[in-house]
Amino acid sequence: MFRAEYRLDQSKAPFLEGLRRYSLDRIIPFHTPGHKQGRSVDPELEAALGELPFLLDVSDEIASEAHNNDSVEVLRQAEALAADAFGARTTFFLHNGTTAGIHAMLLAARQWVSGKLSIEERLMEDAGEILLPRSVHRSVLGGLILAALAPRLIPHTWDPDWSIPLPPSSEARQTAAASSQSLAAYFDTYPNYYGIAGHLDEVVRLAAHGDKLLLVDEAHGAHFRFHPSLPPPALSLGADASAQSAHKVLGVLTQASMLHVNNEELAALMPQVLAILQSTSPSFLLYASLDAGRRQMVQVGETLWQRALELSSMARERVNRIPGLQCLGEEILNEPQVKFWDPTKLLIRVDGLGLSGSQAERKLRAKGVQVELAGLNHVLALITIGDGPEEVGALVKALEDLAEEHRGRRRFSPARLSYLPRPGEMPMSPRRAVLAPRREIELAAAKDKIAAEAVLPYPPGIPVLVPGEKITAESIDFLQECRRKGIEIRGWANTSRETIWVVDID
Ligand SMILES: Cc1ncc(COP(=O)(O)O)c(C=O)c1O
Repeated sequence: MFRAEYRLDQSKAPFLEGLRRYSLDRIIPFHTPGHKQGRSVDPELEAALGELPFLLDVSDEIASEAHNNDSVEVLRQAEALAADAFGARTTFFLHNGTTAGIHAMLLAARQWVSGKLSIEERLMEDAGEILLPRSVHRSVLGGLILAALAPRLIPHTWDPDWSIPLPPSSEARQTAAASSQSLAAYFDTYPNYYGIAGHLDEVVRLAAHGDKLLLVDEAHGAHFRFHPSLPPPALSLGADASAQSAHKVLGVLTQASMLHVNNEELAALMPQVLAILQSTSPSFLLYASLDAGRRQMVQVGETLWQRALELSSMARERVNRIPGLQCLGEEILNEPQVKFWDPTKLLIRVDGLGLSGSQAERKLRAKGVQVELAGLNHVLALITIGDGPEEVGALVKALEDLAEEHRGRRRFSPARLSYLPRPGEMPMSPRRAVLAPRREIELAAAKDKIAAEAVLPYPPGIPVLVPGEKITAESIDFLQECRRKGIEIRGWANTSRETIWVVDID
């Protein structure tokens, strides 16, 4: 049976306790926030939220005699408990999601890299490349811009049956690494949105070999440490740092994430970069929920995830019995680039019912269930510790009804993609490209221009162009094909686009 060893008294939740005590003491607040513990809120807002969230929504104030009522000290204690629980040297609570954690890892990596360079090299704006899969989350692109790091992109691997990106193959990673003259760090997504994780252990070896950093976007893996049937956490495999969206899977509030660091030099750089990136007025509700979520995981996490795993397995079996539907299972582990898989993600193909993912999503919503996302030919439902047999039963029933209503329909196929374009050259870093003069032109006329924005067909929502990338005929053809197939093309600003911003250097 899996049992992690803890150094600290994990029965405590000092941040939650201090916050509660402050509100119970009924101290009269002459401090922010302006609603003064709910005395001045709109009645409809109060009716919607109740009194308690406002009572607990204070800034800076906390009750803890042991720490002289100093909220910073109490936060440090809560973060130390989290580091102990998640197996990190140092943990930082984040109040702007994993997006802030990814930005912080990249900025700190840039500082770390700069520390190893000559004075002349340090003055160059784009010192050092970072190796990353093309299918990274858009927050990574923002981080590259902030940190002035140049990406070395590993080409996509696309699963045409499931219409999802897979982790890069070892060969693709090694080829991309070998083609870089100034590789400074590795970045990986582990697992991806669908719970599919690649060979992070190989990346660990590559990074260790060249004394490079390994940073991990573990947004979908905050639960991994708490059940042996889930993939091993990135830190346990040897990553230097990982950012986890605790809010995506644990019992904590939206936007609450954690940044775990195992590299001492990197950890020392984090307080400064986090101070640059995050608000000086964190929501204490978020911090209290992280504190409580950590304690819950240590105390009963394994039992809760056992239940979630059993429910997922029951749902998968039942969905696979429904004609026209198919739920991804552990056969995905047979793909050479896949090493681990999180079974609590239910990826369900719906094209057998003659439906696209978004059509199925809308119809399921009308039946009272809402999935996490809709892809070209699938929907994704997440099972977490918040689900019970009733909820999972309702999902399966809605899928059965959907299948019944669409029995005998022709398989849906129009928007299937058979490939994703290869990355173009990167004559400019993302930072230079977004800060350079720009102009908006027709996509059809953009060959050989340098993209000044990210372009993402949605679904699947992964970048086909990143800022600084030379636009190839292949990417234009691909984006035009997406448009013909009715796939929305999003620019950075999330709007549907016929045109593209390019760097104006002609
Ligand atoms: C793979 C991945 N990385 C990072 C993020 C950003 O996380 P957050 O929403 O916590 O900022 C997301 C969000 O969906 C994600 O899916």
